[in-house]
Amino acid sequence: MQVTINVNGEDYTREIEPRHLLVRFLRDDLGLTGTHWGCDTSNCGTCVVLLDGEPVKSCTVLAAMAAGHEVRTVEGLEVDGKLDPIQQGFMEEHGLQCGFCTSGMQMTGRALLNRNPDPSEAEIREAISGQLCRCTGYLNIVKAIQWAAAHPAEKTVGS
Ligand code: FES
Ligand code: FES
Repeated sequence: MQVTINVNGEDYTREIEPRHLLVRFLRDDLGLTGTHWGCDTSNCGTCVVLLDGEPVKSCTVLAAMAAGHEVRTVEGLEVDGKLDPIQQGFMEEHGLQCGFCTSGMQMTGRALLNRNPDPSEAEIREAISGQLCRCTGYLNIVKAIQWAAAHPAEKTVGS
């Protein structure tokens, strides 16, 4: 089947099998390897992208389900060449070690701040509760999202 999916503002049309997963479409077909694939069982959240602004685990979404919709990946977080505050926050607060979970955490963080620009620590922890980090102990990830909340940009994706 043929699908057209808007990814980071551009339309991409590809021939795919109906069972093709969105994470594979992004990584294998478009070369957007910033979206990671960590578990295949819907547990780790490294594959989170925004689908029409909502965070989804792209290993649980068929590419066909995203046809005609807008997907945003970590490669599309920058606006006009400027890092999203959520990316800056991870730098400022050392919110990563190996970095494997980072893109998913950043996409979830961006979605959270879009709907709640001033989240409490408990709300941040709840938002990332579907995602695993094997390195940081989460404290600096929470601080990174708090940093982004305290330094909003004029323009961010999905806002
Ligand atoms: S790869 Fe999607 S949840 Fe782990
Ligand atoms: S920084 Fe290594 S898994 Fe989170």
